[in-house]
Amino acid sequence: MQEISDVRHLSKRVAGLKPSGIRKFFDIAATMKDVISLGIGEPDFTTPRPILEAGIDSLKQGETHYTSNAGKLVLRQGIAANLQRLYGVRYDPVNEIIATVGVSEALYLTMTALLDPGDEVIIPTPCFVSYQAEVILAGGVPVEIPSRMEDNFELDPDLVRAAITPRTKVIFVGYPNNPTGAVATRTTLTEVARIAEEHDLILVSDEIYDRLVYDFQHVCVPALDESIKRRTVLLGGFSKDYAMTGWRIGYAAGPEDIIKGLVRIHQYTIMSAPTTAQDAAIQALAGGEKFVDEMVAEYDRRRRLIVGGLNKLGLTTFEPRGAFYAFPQIKASGMDDETFAEKLLKEEHVAVVPGNAFGAGGDGFVRCSYATAYEKIEEALQRMEKFMNRHG
Ligand SMILES: Cc1ncc(COP(=O)(O)O)c(C=O)c1O
Repeated sequence: MQEISDVRHLSKRVAGLKPSGIRKFFDIAATMKDVISLGIGEPDFTTPRPILEAGIDSLKQGETHYTSNAGKLVLRQGIAANLQRLYGVRYDPVNEIIATVGVSEALYLTMTALLDPGDEVIIPTPCFVSYQAEVILAGGVPVEIPSRMEDNFELDPDLVRAAITPRTKVIFVGYPNNPTGAVATRTTLTEVARIAEEHDLILVSDEIYDRLVYDFQHVCVPALDESIKRRTVLLGGFSKDYAMTGWRIGYAAGPEDIIKGLVRIHQYTIMSAPTTAQDAAIQALAGGEKFVDEMVAEYDRRRRLIVGGLNKLGLTTFEPRGAFYAFPQIKASGMDDETFAEKLLKEEHVAVVPGNAFGAGGDGFVRCSYATAYEKIEEALQRMEKFMNRHG
């Protein structure tokens, strides 16, 4: 009899998906003692108390039921008000916003709603590990374009233009960027948006780190102008800005027709985002400002420590202006990024993620998250110094 779990039973799309390069390192690190992890892409802070209590109260008050498919209207109104307050962009909370299970689900819905088999999606790399996978799962074809340290890992509009074919449907942008910490300027984003207009393409803008910026004013893509907004799906969330990764709540905002498409898939696959998390998110929007400011100030302190420290070790690191990642080039070690990460973990018990996990543009770099305590970063830098003294 055939084994029912035989890989041959999987669809070609799923069988062909590569496991995430991040997981592999977590699995090794989990078997070791005394590891300092700079590998994690989530805040080390616990969700701020009032947000946490809003979730608990929600349960106590018996909010244990489904909500409307698109999410509680109060939450969508809060998201709309927040986007207008921060960026001056207006969304109709009734028809243009959907609450999702994190930006992860929003990505899945957006790709599934927009792509037909063979449609191409331009993805600047290095980038968040899920983008390519979501495109493939939706039957599309990811077309990677590299961004370079010499350009501050900014998007190069010429490369975007050169990658366009008759099958192109979507251009991805994701700033502040995971894994580089790069931000994008108004000029660049406007230029890329004009290219999208010229070729009638959709822009998908993942702005999950919008509040985590340092000496930089975040540029919200749909806020650039009305015509850009009409072809943009904005993805945003609570995981990073409010330290709420485990709550699983995010959103997509965009033109009514597209959001309706997302809701259609969401209603059959998810029904509604977790009710407790929706209530916590409502509180995050209503009273979370102070906590965002506090967390950003602490990330900024760690950012200065890690960027200065890595550069001193000869691991050239460009100054990240957003998110909570430093992305040093590891050329001075004479190793490729996989070997560097593996040896550093085995010899010094410091976990970082090889840059190639984030697409071809990440070769020769590693990602170091500074969403970890200041003292731990100090200790990690000391261990890396020993490592570089042996291998540099
Ligand atoms: C750029 C980016 N987008 C989306 C996500 C997914 O976040 P969520 O927890 O909202 O699903 C992450 C998580 O690491 C990320 O870095």
